[in-house]
Amino acid sequence: MLQRDRPRDVRRTLGQFWTPDPIAELMVRWALHDEPGRFLDPGAGPLTFLRAARRTVGERRVSCVAFELDPDLVRAARAVRPPGACDVRAEDFLSATARFPGLPVVCNPPYSRHHLLRDGVKEALVERTARTFGFRPSRFLGAYGWFLLRALETTGGTSRLCFITPLELLTSRSGLELFRALPEALWPRRVIVFGPEFDAFPGVDATAAISCIDPQAAAAGKRALLVLREWPGVEPLRRWLEARAASPAPTGCGTVLPLELGERPSIVPDAAETSLHRQPLFRCARVVRGVATGANAFFLFDRARRRASGLPAQLFRRVIARARDATRLVLSTADLEALERRGRPTWLLALPRGTVPTGALARWLSAGEQSGLAQRPLLSRRRPWWTTEARDPPPILFTYLSRGDPRFVLNEAGAVALTTFLVLRPLPAPPGVPPADWLACLAAALNTPGTLASLARHGRSYGGATRKIEPRELERIDLPALDELPPPVLRVLARRARSWLGEPAREPRRMAAARWEDELRGELAKLS
Ligand SMILES: C[S@@+](CC[C@H](N)C(=O)[O-])C[C@H]1O[C@@H](n2cnc3c(N)ncnc32)[C@H](O)[C@@H]1O
Repeated sequence: MLQRDRPRDVRRTLGQFWTPDPIAELMVRWALHDEPGRFLDPGAGPLTFLRAARRTVGERRVSCVAFELDPDLVRAARAVRPPGACDVRAEDFLSATARFPGLPVVCNPPYSRHHLLRDGVKEALVERTARTFGFRPSRFLGAYGWFLLRALETTGGTSRLCFITPLELLTSRSGLELFRALPEALWPRRVIVFGPEFDAFPGVDATAAISCIDPQAAAAGKRALLVLREWPGVEPLRRWLEARAASPAPTGCGTVLPLELGERPSIVPDAAETSLHRQPLFRCARVVRGVATGANAFFLFDRARRRASGLPAQLFRRVIARARDATRLVLSTADLEALERRGRPTWLLALPRGTVPTGALARWLSAGEQSGLAQRPLLSRRRPWWTTEARDPPPILFTYLSRGDPRFVLNEAGAVALTTFLVLRPLPAPPGVPPADWLACLAAALNTPGTLASLARHGRSYGGATRKIEPRELERIDLPALDELPPPVLRVLARRARSWLGEPAREPRRMAAARWEDELRGELAKLS
């Protein structure tokens, strides 16, 4: 059953969104030790986990007990054959009383926050937890926290539990209190977080995390958390989950971080390094907004319009008008020419104060004046109204309003950028470093996964939606302290950066940025 088939209000109240197949496969395979068996799915939806288990472990070798409240989904689940494959309970899992001792649990509970749970339901859950586990959880615990407690109670907390929830389950105050109050064996051994660059659940405004609780092996090896930036495949991740030691991430797919018992985990790579070899952006660049023309239709020109206007070429500056026009991490003159051939405006009528309008320009300005431009909000404050604020072209542009793909663009074309960009004006290169190498290193460091993770912490909205960040906020993101490196190292890093900054395809570029970041970290570590 497709998610979009469900009415929107049902979807919202019941927290309905389905787990993508590869993630579901990973979760069931881990929970079942990759062997035939039966498991509990406390919010089953369209039986995503049972279907995944049948595909990977074997059609007739797995079965489940499924709780579900939505009557349509219950009906569909009851039609599953053979009948023993799925024991469907049309019941609220949070108030159900049946016990399933020793059954592994695979669950994607509703993401609903605490205020969607009725007070009476919460009160009953608090009392029930006090009786079973001897503590009273916070009433601010989200539905997913209660699902976990109920799953532990109902199975006895001796089997594997695999939960996909908002990361808040592990980082919020109420979530931490919960884990601290439970026996140590129930603290997750492994957690996989879908990092800022990996939008596993488009449209869901939360960072998702898979918590793997393994009461029988809790003390085995070190606990670890993996922040994924891309999907390496089910098998490498399953092996990572099973490894006793905290092994490195499957190649290039993310960063492994410590998961300390009882502590709030950090998903920022090398957070401990923030002071060591990392520094805020304002130490090496100033950030301002791009140019506001006040009337794009009047000041922006494509090739045909510029020719037809008869205005002299020296009155124009090259311009990049929208983030979508800068798809790579380098903007070259050739890119602007390609845009121009496609009819995009790439010229800005840039008139400095003191310009004396004559001929075609005088006619153009008078037409603008007649159409009331001089009275427009922004333009009426300028003296004269047609002066533009186009200053020197900024060396680095940032696409600050971008859905899921924020990027820092090296402005080799020397274009003026409009307000759809924030612009970075780096401080001079350190002695002995050629300015072009310095800019390449800076642009590369800004596009590394570590810096983009810092961006996610400082931006306004996050989780697959449009990200917004103000110039002062952007100045506070942290990036590797490039200026601590000797000039010869920076020159080598600049050469390597150039090999991927121009790459048009997003995926290979992300991989290359991650490798470059590893190399840079290695160089910085040598300084310690
Ligand atoms: C996030 S969806 C996950 C569905 C499916 N397991 C998956 O991963 O694709 C959560 C499901 O739990 C159901 N649900 C919500 N509250 C419930 C409750 N209190 N008891 C049982 N099921 C519930 C919703 O209708 C929804 O189908």
